[in-house]
Amino acid sequence: MYNSDLQKQANALVKSYKIKDTGFQERLTANLDDIHNHFQALYGDSPLFTDLIQTIFNAYTERSLELKKLDESKAKKEENWFLSQDLVGMSLYVDRFAGKITDLPAKIPYLEKLGVNFLHLMPLFKSPEGESDGGYAVEDFRVVEEKLGTIEDLRAFQKALQQKDMYLMIDIVLNHTSHHHEWAKLAKAGIKEYQDYFYMYDDRRIPDAMEETMPEIFPESSPGSFTYDEKLDKWVMTVFHHYQWDLNYTNPKVFIEMLANVFYYANLGVDVVRIDAPAFIWKQMGTSCQNLPEAHQLLQLIKMCVEVATPGMAILGEAIVAPAQIMEYFGTGRFATHECDFAYNATQMAVQWDALATGDIRVMHHAQHELVRKPKGATWLTYTRCHDDIGLGYDDWMIEQSGFNPYDHRTYIKNYYSGGIESPAVGALFAVNPKTQDARLSGSLASLCGLEKAISSKDAAAIQTSINKITLMQAQSMFVGGVPMLFYGDEAAYTNDYSYLQDSGKSYDNRWMHRPLIDWKKNAAVDEPNTVENRVFTNLQKLIKLRKSLKVVADLKNIHWLEVHNNSIIGFERYLKGEKVYFLFNFSAQPQEVTYYMLGAFGERATVMKDLWSGKTIQIGMDHDHLAFNPYQFYVLK
Ligand code: GLC
Repeated sequence: MYNSDLQKQANALVKSYKIKDTGFQERLTANLDDIHNHFQALYGDSPLFTDLIQTIFNAYTERSLELKKLDESKAKKEENWFLSQDLVGMSLYVDRFAGKITDLPAKIPYLEKLGVNFLHLMPLFKSPEGESDGGYAVEDFRVVEEKLGTIEDLRAFQKALQQKDMYLMIDIVLNHTSHHHEWAKLAKAGIKEYQDYFYMYDDRRIPDAMEETMPEIFPESSPGSFTYDEKLDKWVMTVFHHYQWDLNYTNPKVFIEMLANVFYYANLGVDVVRIDAPAFIWKQMGTSCQNLPEAHQLLQLIKMCVEVATPGMAILGEAIVAPAQIMEYFGTGRFATHECDFAYNATQMAVQWDALATGDIRVMHHAQHELVRKPKGATWLTYTRCHDDIGLGYDDWMIEQSGFNPYDHRTYIKNYYSGGIESPAVGALFAVNPKTQDARLSGSLASLCGLEKAISSKDAAAIQTSINKITLMQAQSMFVGGVPMLFYGDEAAYTNDYSYLQDSGKSYDNRWMHRPLIDWKKNAAVDEPNTVENRVFTNLQKLIKLRKSLKVVADLKNIHWLEVHNNSIIGFERYLKGEKVYFLFNFSAQPQEVTYYMLGAFGERATVMKDLWSGKTIQIGMDHDHLAFNPYQFYVLK
């Protein structure tokens, strides 16, 4: 409902800030009522609503003219700028990839050579050595970690990227802070106001009751969800590691302070902000404390505020949860596409690893019923590997409908990748829960695809097979819809690195085995013909080039999954304005065949097609004729 008092107050502010930009005023008018309603739903009639509005105005007035122009040019695009097939990203740790932020520009030519034009810099802000969780335990949201450089270095790097039409993503760790953050220190000093920034209890009564329904995130290294703090003589909520204190978003001050941090990043020129662990930001007794309706309301509130003040910055929600739950982070009902612009396609990632282990694509196929519901205008971040573990978090029914027993099926996959059974893969179980036997998986793309074993046994055929698997997995992430996000090191075939075991700040967390320390001598081998590095790199380079050349790959809700009638081969059609391209992937170690019948499911099929991957021309036969696949082969048929 239109609230005229509210609009009058806003108009007065527009005047007092001397804002002339009609775009801002329109965006404010369009969002103000919803911002107010959402805030009220969460915080009642808190007088801090005025602070919220002030925060939005400050963010807008502090935004540079240059960034405002960029906002305008992004808004003028026919479709949301981030839906384009031109984007290809890479996640990297500044120190492990290059050294300092000031060392990054020298690496841009390498990234350009590969085709990457979107960088996710892993957490950059001050974080205590040894208790940092790879930077996800933040001590100060506005001070860059000393070993990486300064905020000025970051600003300069953003400008350098912008000049090259490259995009930047960084994290906002919204759910928690390090216990060394100023707020935590003030809380430890006994200041009640700051104790209310966190969840803390005098005894175990509430923690015990809450833990009944809260799943453990790191059951091995940080069991439980509360940590006793001696100084406070209280139990503090620590859902992740014991040194990561959960922020209390029932306190509107916390929300407004963190929103101001989001805006601070927006005004650094960040194109996408990755909201870390958004599923966890609202807690309620008797629930899993994940994916609660209030968490969505908070995210929508952030999105609307960003839409008003810094509209060029998109939001990625890192919700690694069950498929149906992930979908909700795009917003639902009237707020569809008004929550997160991007979500990780964690389901697709996991079913890729499922299919690779089993040689059977049925679970992947069933998962798509859920995933195709993504609203037009929002997009996926598609990935095969990232800095985190692989969780087999898809639904049991997807496994059951494929004819498998969910428990046995997951056990098989975990064993396949962690050495429990004979397989080409080398990886490890991560976060094994002794109570439920639940576990996730660690390991690099190359090692999980068999390269580590193949190299150590000097088996040329196995090396080629593992390269084929790596390429198959990357190809699917490249074309399935969304922005592919590569993980640094994977382009140069880095296998697991076990040196983390020698570092006491990392040895408790085996995710470090797949977070390599880049050795630029090894990376130089990407230019030496026929090295493993070169073969992996050039395949990826070719995939990226192909992606960018195909308009049908833009993420415009233009995908049909095919019924190919072969349990090892999965395929989809991407289409746009009369153009069609078919993508077909063989996940098995055996040669396979499919009949041409499947190509006619969505309209007439061509008589001659070209495989854009191999360059070969293919005469399409009769319905009952076959298209043949080698093990792990894929086709891009136009
Ligand atoms: C996210 C990060 C992960 C981290 C966790 C806690 O899931 O990706 O690396 O451990 O949040 O911040």
